[in-house]
Amino acid sequence: MCSPQAVHVAMTLDAVYLRGSMAAIFSVLQHSSCPQNILFHFISSSTDINHLHDTISHSFPFLKFQIYHFDGTAAAGLISTSIRSALDCPLNYARNYLADLLPSCVKKVVYLDSDLVLVDDIAKLAGTPLDNHAVLAAPEYCNANFTSYFTPSFWSNPTLSYTFAGRNACYFNTGVMVIDLERWREGEYTRKITEWMELQKRMRIYELGSLPPFLLVFAGNIAPVDHRWNQHGLGGDNYRGLCRDLHPGPVSLLHWSGKGKPWVRLDANRPCPLDALWAPYDLLRTPFSLES
Ligand SMILES: *[C@@H]1O[C@H](CO)[C@@H](O)[C@H](O)[C@H]1NC(C)=O
Repeated sequence: MCSPQAVHVAMTLDAVYLRGSMAAIFSVLQHSSCPQNILFHFISSSTDINHLHDTISHSFPFLKFQIYHFDGTAAAGLISTSIRSALDCPLNYARNYLADLLPSCVKKVVYLDSDLVLVDDIAKLAGTPLDNHAVLAAPEYCNANFTSYFTPSFWSNPTLSYTFAGRNACYFNTGVMVIDLERWREGEYTRKITEWMELQKRMRIYELGSLPPFLLVFAGNIAPVDHRWNQHGLGGDNYRGLCRDLHPGPVSLLHWSGKGKPWVRLDANRPCPLDALWAPYDLLRTPFSLES
């Protein structure tokens, strides 16, 4: 699991999102010019890791992967409730702890959410240069209203809002990130993120789940990635889950971030138009039932 030539990919794995994870893995392999060079690192809090292991090796007999147990207790104590309860699951915070969970020989990793599919070679994304000592790379969205990710009490507190002074801070989505784990470990970024979460417990400084602490620590200091690598928001908005369209431009990765998930909408026979692009990767399709 240490190969420096390999493309290392980290994802979380749990029963609820397993169908999404399987589709994501399948899409990564299908569009890779060298699938045997990809190593998957799965993070799971499940008590039945054997079942997850069997499910994956049954569908992907040649896949090189390792499952790491994530004890969500520490993260759970740091989570304050957000506007969407699915975001409050401790496993959603596992991305903060990758540098500790993965073996120290792994120097660089591509982190992927479970509600996405790639339609391009992941090696291109993994090869993103992390110039200027950047710790992570992700597509940035400087037109998004950055202010809205934090509460008025955050902005009205001079000490807190000073965090972003001198930084050209832009929104980025934490569902697709290329992370330099060596720099992460050296800079103790897990601790820095955790400190913001501790503050959030005492005084509400943001509304969403695991994203804002990443913005607080990294926004304005990340390496850029072309927007094609995270066409996000396809799950719809956080309140009503309305269908969303693609952003303009080319597409290498489709991400159903937001409230709605394509497998849920397909099962309910109420898919959004773009869910048809996820369906071909659905290996765990619920058998069609003639009853009901
Ligand atoms: C950005 O969001 C803040 C807080 O939600 C709001 O007060 C402000 O008007 C917004 N700015 C723009 C340009 O939409």
